[in-house]
Amino acid sequence: MRGGTIEISATSDALMQAAAERFVACAEAAMRVAGCFVVALSGGSTPKRLYMLLATAAYARRVDWSRVHVFWGDERCVPPDDPASNCRMAREVLLSRVPVPEGNVHRMRGEDDPGSAAAAYEREVREILVTPDGPPACIPGRRFDLVLLGMGDNGHTASLFPGTPAVRETERWVMAQYVNVVSMWRLTLTPVIIDSAAEITFLVCGGEKAAMLHRVLQGPDVPDALPAQAIAPRHGRLRWLVDAAAAADLERSCDDITGHDLQPGRISARRR
Ligand code: 6PG
Repeated sequence: MRGGTIEISATSDALMQAAAERFVACAEAAMRVAGCFVVALSGGSTPKRLYMLLATAAYARRVDWSRVHVFWGDERCVPPDDPASNCRMAREVLLSRVPVPEGNVHRMRGEDDPGSAAAAYEREVREILVTPDGPPACIPGRRFDLVLLGMGDNGHTASLFPGTPAVRETERWVMAQYVNVVSMWRLTLTPVIIDSAAEITFLVCGGEKAAMLHRVLQGPDVPDALPAQAIAPRHGRLRWLVDAAAAADLERSCDDITGHDLQPGRISARRR
């Protein structure tokens, strides 16, 4: 089993609650140490219910949103009001419903020239992480406290798609790429900055992801073909939060998997 831990939730609702608890715990820890919480949100459809949950009173009141800086792991090169915009989705279901200062919402400018937008975003990330040049520092206050990621059924994550140069990037923190499989330009954080985070949490939900999750976590190491494998925190924690449907193909004979009894005989409760 590739590095990190996997936590299996019985249902997708329980999965979103587990993810919301992680978000709150990471925010509290970062604010205790560095006075603020710097998070990179993921896009796609899976995290939408997490963001909706975080906007509910039960969770929203547990985060001091005035000290949260919100970034994105990737964006589609579309205007911010476009239905395909990751920023739009997060704004509609979360950021417009919690008291995060507008100046702390750092969106990728998908409407601009992709190359310029990527360079501008790197400057903005570097400014907030107090690292004007050089490699990222893996220390509190100068790294992402939490990077949320999804996994596509082709093994991509953020907008690190199979066979694209950003997967192997060693210098730039943000890149623009034209991605053939989705016929569009994308902006993405690279592993250079993602891997310096205190915590990287993958959120994977649904049976349609089961075969790919098994390949990514328990198959041969082919990060160019399966970019989710390219993510490996240098000093931080890697966590996979998945539901039982997505975990259906995983071989359970390893200590890194914890979960709840789902179906008698299929999965033992906590293995430790
Ligand atoms: C995006 C995402 C992307 C996403 C996966 C999974 O902009 O599309 O950041 O990496 O996480 O494609 O998407 P779903 O959650 O919709 O399956």
